[in-house]
Amino acid sequence: MNRADCVNEDARDPLAPLRAQFALDRVDAAGVIYLDGNSLGVLPKSAIARTREVVENEWGVGLIRSWTTAGWIDRSQRIGDKIARLIGAGPGEIAVADSTSVNLFKALTAAIALNPGRSRILSEKTNFPTDLYIAETLARERGLELVLVDQPDIASHLDDRVAVLMLTHASYRTGRIYDMAAITSAAKSAGAMMIWDLAHSAGALPVDLHGAGADFAVGCGYKYLNGGPGAAAFIWAHPRHTARMDREGWRPPLSGWLGHAQPFAFASHYEPANGIQRFICGTPAVLSMATLECGVDTVLAAADRGGMTGIRKKSLALTDLFMRLVDGRLAGRGFTIVTPREPDQRGSQVSIAHPDDGYAIMQALIARGVIGDFRPPDILRFGFTPLYTRFVDVWDAVDRLASVLHSAEWRDPKYAVRAAVT
Ligand SMILES: Cc1ncc(COP(=O)(O)O)c(C=O)c1O
Repeated sequence: MNRADCVNEDARDPLAPLRAQFALDRVDAAGVIYLDGNSLGVLPKSAIARTREVVENEWGVGLIRSWTTAGWIDRSQRIGDKIARLIGAGPGEIAVADSTSVNLFKALTAAIALNPGRSRILSEKTNFPTDLYIAETLARERGLELVLVDQPDIASHLDDRVAVLMLTHASYRTGRIYDMAAITSAAKSAGAMMIWDLAHSAGALPVDLHGAGADFAVGCGYKYLNGGPGAAAFIWAHPRHTARMDREGWRPPLSGWLGHAQPFAFASHYEPANGIQRFICGTPAVLSMATLECGVDTVLAAADRGGMTGIRKKSLALTDLFMRLVDGRLAGRGFTIVTPREPDQRGSQVSIAHPDDGYAIMQALIARGVIGDFRPPDILRFGFTPLYTRFVDVWDAVDRLASVLHSAEWRDPKYAVRAAVT
């Protein structure tokens, strides 16, 4: 495949028109190729007008009335219903609130409470650190053991001691994905609860929580959902669990007033709201919720172009092209592709490891206008968001990476200086 083939591929791409949803004109004009939508999605154009509307009119004129008249109070549920369509959940099953870390704490606490008499939380060693940190502290507090194993050893550790198996569907490091249905089924057979972190899956690939029989899920609003920096995250619980919580009057660990059955009764004692609503804690960040909804809408806009299946098809084509170009053009440069080649085993990113020099190479590449990121000890990460990443971007990104290596410009000492965010 050459550059002209990539241009032709873009011309044939059914998702190509959806790129116009994003405010990329200035990014394109600056010659920047953005391959980091797995960390922070691109700004949807609609978010600019929507933020203005919320600030100038809903807040500026509507003031406190807008909680009702503009529907601010129902925004979590409304956006949750939209996200549900992307991940195989039902309406009314998702709460949008807080961060993924906080929601994971809530989900873990609930899963442990619903599965008493067991002593372990099981996870995988390279799971995202926040997931492991939250589980570590909760395990300590509850007198449980957090057991971290290598991926191939998960199944053999599923026994009657495991209360919860907690995994991230698509690895932030390698992009490897689990077979959600198979792992969930193994967890259920062992009597364990299954929690999925969908941070790198929601909006990136089809997910079927109900089909897999999962128990809980959490996920991120600012990555493939394009919700903006620090956008609220989401939490999902299977309705069989929320129904049980309703029957038993189960109190969530963060029992804030907006998760109360009647927040505006201002009662002195907590009584949980029914369903997923109990996982709401305090007042939502309305401005941020507005941009999140715009972001989720950019993904839903693919509905008549194949939806998540169409997104997945293009995602696999982009990642496959990237890997083939890296193989072809960067052979002998010390790179190892650590993302699985098998399409059913990778998400929407490609990670390439480079011993010792990965950080400096990524900084030099960013200076050449290709934005990816670096994860220690040695991983250069490239995310592909089919809504706005073009085939020609993939070609040009690898071309620039080849130039960075050929010119050895990454050896400039300034590229070795670690920034606060890598
Ligand atoms: C798998 C995973 N979980 C959670 C998070 C972040 O959680 P939070 O939104 O609480 O910062 C990330 C961020 O990159 C992630 O990759």
